[in-house]
Amino acid sequence: MKKTWWKESVVYQIYPRSFNDTNGDGIGDLKGITEKLDYLKDLGVNVIWLSPVYKSPNDDNGYDISDYQDIMDEFGTIEDWEELLAEMHKRGLKLIMDLVVNHSSDEHAWFVESKKSKDNPYRDYYIWRPGKDGKEPNNWESAFSGSAWQYDEQTDEYFLHLFSKKQPDLNWENPKVRQEVYNMMSWWLDKGIDGFRMDVINFISKVPGLPDAPNPEGKRYVGGGEYFINGPRIHEFLHEMNKEVLSKYDVLTVGEMPGAKVEDAQLYTGDDREELNMVFTFEHVDLDSGPNGKWDLKPLNLVDLKENVTKWQKGLHEAGWNSLYLNNHDQPRMVSRFGNDKEYRVESAKMLATFLHMLQGTPYVYQGEEIGMTNIRFESIDEYKDIEILNMYKEKVIEGNEDHDKVMESIYVKGRDNARTPVQWDDSEHAGFTTGEPWLTVNPNYKEINAKKAVADPNSVYNYYKELIRLRKNHEIIVYGEYDLILEDHPQIYSYTRSYNGEKLLVITNFSDKEVAFENPEIVQFNAEEVLISNYEVDFSKDVSSLTLRPYEARVYRGN
Ligand code: NOJ
Repeated sequence: MKKTWWKESVVYQIYPRSFNDTNGDGIGDLKGITEKLDYLKDLGVNVIWLSPVYKSPNDDNGYDISDYQDIMDEFGTIEDWEELLAEMHKRGLKLIMDLVVNHSSDEHAWFVESKKSKDNPYRDYYIWRPGKDGKEPNNWESAFSGSAWQYDEQTDEYFLHLFSKKQPDLNWENPKVRQEVYNMMSWWLDKGIDGFRMDVINFISKVPGLPDAPNPEGKRYVGGGEYFINGPRIHEFLHEMNKEVLSKYDVLTVGEMPGAKVEDAQLYTGDDREELNMVFTFEHVDLDSGPNGKWDLKPLNLVDLKENVTKWQKGLHEAGWNSLYLNNHDQPRMVSRFGNDKEYRVESAKMLATFLHMLQGTPYVYQGEEIGMTNIRFESIDEYKDIEILNMYKEKVIEGNEDHDKVMESIYVKGRDNARTPVQWDDSEHAGFTTGEPWLTVNPNYKEINAKKAVADPNSVYNYYKELIRLRKNHEIIVYGEYDLILEDHPQIYSYTRSYNGEKLLVITNFSDKEVAFENPEIVQFNAEEVLISNYEVDFSKDVSSLTLRPYEARVYRGN
């Protein structure tokens, strides 16, 4: 397998709005990030991904960009950004920027022009269609509720927006759009950035004709994903982007790809394909959703998780590359979702980290994860700020007749604001995030859970992450070893081996709050030499064929 720096990296994701505020406006900023670089360096990560920092009216917190080559006012200036990049590079940290080019903001100059008239030179930068039978051009639903089309009176046509109506989809069929995007990417790369995370990049090619989606239940609007997810020209576009831009730089690229299957990922990330380095799959974070989507809560079955993760580990070994994550700015906090954020918060956060960081792929740590931050429960819907939550609540409760309590419960479990509360730096007011009023209320548990305390405590989640990251740097097997699942039907234990050049790792994790017995199946030949890391005290013994695991226990043995 080809060795590269991005396979050996650990990425830290920053959601700048909630990271660290230095000017007291309650919103995180670039100077706030620069201020914390030593903290990140100490943690040991070597790549930082910034969620969007570009000019934006913030309908979707920066994922609606009105100028791709300037910085959002609340976050600072281009000089602040340049200083941040220089300070990062000085510390050997690489920077990857968010690339949001499935759509722009409706306040982007291209869209402002596009809207003016049907013969405006920018008209075809977006996807405009006349209505059909007095209604929208098709029945697709926006990811943020309601139709994916917005009517515009001026020209009596609709434009497509797969997300909010302030996020019109760019028309990738238009070669001029593609060239604009490539030029913009080169402009950032020439400033010295080290790669891109690409927002819903597998949505950019739509099926021509934009057909109605099948609608057996007669709903008002339906997903429509089959007509734009991994669409007909997607590989052509990504290959072109690679040829025109990416291949000229030594960069890390990761495509956010809802609806990508492992077979798709082989094509997106295969070494000889010249598209991307890796993708974010959604399959493992969809396992606790019912048939009606993310708000349709369903308990996670560990066996399903094992089956899914194994499919990706096996499917991309020597055939592509995995990215590894359990949470980000769109997902609830992992310790609340897959662990136990009360009695076993520390143990389960460490267990989940062990499970993830010992897999093959590039791990992503989302801000606050390294100190075991948890989900939030706001009493009132008015305290939430996320457009996805607010639109969904309006549709279901205010305009529909769903039960308020039931919908609030789904927000507590799945809402994106769970991950967006400000980072808890210390136990001072607003957790040291801001001296002003935070844009989103700080989680009240900050006196207990904060970075200052975690850094000082040798048994903290933070110091455990530090060790996991250090181990990855020192053991090639963690990066390159082959993965094999064991005990595939066990309902509480997730265990697997990694093998590389005659060496082996045995990873054992208990996903439950009970003691459980681990019996190593006889077919797994393993001679333990040492415990590499564990989240409880372990007396080393060479015999690991039969063990009792404590609640959320995690152990990694090295041997052969
Ligand atoms: C995925 C981003 O991660 C999410 O935050 C955003 O709302 C949508 N794409 C639309 O850009």
